[in-house]
Amino acid sequence: MGDIGIAFSSGPLWKELRSTTHQILKEFGMGTNALAEKIQEEVNCYVNKLADLQGEPTDIQHFTHVSVSNVICSIAIGRRFNHEDPSHQNTTESLMNFAKNAKGAAAINFFPFLQHLPGDYFKAKVIKKNMGNVKDTLVKIVSEIEHQESDDSVENYIFSYRRKQNEKTKAGKRTFLDDANLVKTIIDLFGAGTETISSTIVWCVLYILCNPGVQVKIHEELDRELGQEKLPTMADQVRLPYLGAVIKETQRLASVLPFSLMHQTREDVTIGNYFIPKGTAVIPDLDSVLHDPKIWGDDAEKFNPERFLCDDGSVLQREEFIPFSIGSRNCVGEALAKMELFLFLSSMFQRFEFVSPDPANLPSLKPDIGITAVPSPYKLSCVDRLKK
Ligand code: HEM
Repeated sequence: MGDIGIAFSSGPLWKELRSTTHQILKEFGMGTNALAEKIQEEVNCYVNKLADLQGEPTDIQHFTHVSVSNVICSIAIGRRFNHEDPSHQNTTESLMNFAKNAKGAAAINFFPFLQHLPGDYFKAKVIKKNMGNVKDTLVKIVSEIEHQESDDSVENYIFSYRRKQNEKTKAGKRTFLDDANLVKTIIDLFGAGTETISSTIVWCVLYILCNPGVQVKIHEELDRELGQEKLPTMADQVRLPYLGAVIKETQRLASVLPFSLMHQTREDVTIGNYFIPKGTAVIPDLDSVLHDPKIWGDDAEKFNPERFLCDDGSVLQREEFIPFSIGSRNCVGEALAKMELFLFLSSMFQRFEFVSPDPANLPSLKPDIGITAVPSPYKLSCVDRLKK
């Protein structure tokens, strides 16, 4: 475990950063309309960008990533960036490369001496460089934000964090809320909250290309419940159970964070016949639940949204559905993630029909696994349903 930030720390430092972050996300409206409006602003820009492609076959992975990271930007620093902004592109690219090259990082975690071997087989140097880029950019942004004239209408993670830090310091309480933890926690929010969402979106569209009948049903439901005029809001979620089931099935099958994040035992534990001593690194295998045929049936490896529908057509909640992990260390951004997935995907399907440029040669469903499981690059055409 690392010793700063939220995702890789432990003990009292992690506890304080986790509760502070959770509190700030809630104050921001995680799970409520206030935040939904911010996300919708980004979704509108994204959908217009897709429309500008005019059906030209395109790989939307990077493009989606930049949009999704803008949602974290809105929360962390209170503003979004133009897609063309070079510093934003640089940061998102570094984060993507970090996740992609993190295959080797797992080995380095266990055997640190591997990073000193000649060459860069385990990608330690690439990872260091990418994280250095991300950190430099964020340190600059944090300092710019803090030197701006105060404007009460702008709210962001940095201001909230500083307020909480000052309150504790003034009250003479011991706190881990300092500069280093602020920057590292923002890096963790970008790291944990961008590629996970953008990959899920890109997986969803890929599964749809390979299962065109599913797209027909999504369009039928959207046309019947909303039509083309009304943009989807969170209140529409209950009216779109089929889309809800598609999103769940995408998350189950894609399992974008298959090994969750690394944990460590705080004390000796015995599970079944296994004794695990205190301090052992534990890598949860979420796929062992999400893809288990004993739970999901013999078609566990197939894309079948119907498995998440009840007989009355509503969405089935299953406790084995654990893409956000479980326990006190589960995903702190789960409610935000669910809002983003619904708002992005409902608007995308409302506006477009997604088509493979070569239906006889569908793209591979084989994931590219780093820390996250990302679809291998593929192209698709976004056919504007407004122009049909
Ligand atoms: C589809 C989207 C997402 C998935 C599948 C996902 C999944 C996960 C998983 C499996 C973990 C590890 C839990 C564990 O260690 O047991 C995690 C942790 C985390 N996630 Fe997410 N996540 C998603 C989106 C987000 C978003 C949007 C945010 C932004 C706020 C976020 C922030 C975090 C943070 C900060 C942690 C570390 C929590 C801690 O260590 O206490 N995630 N996520």
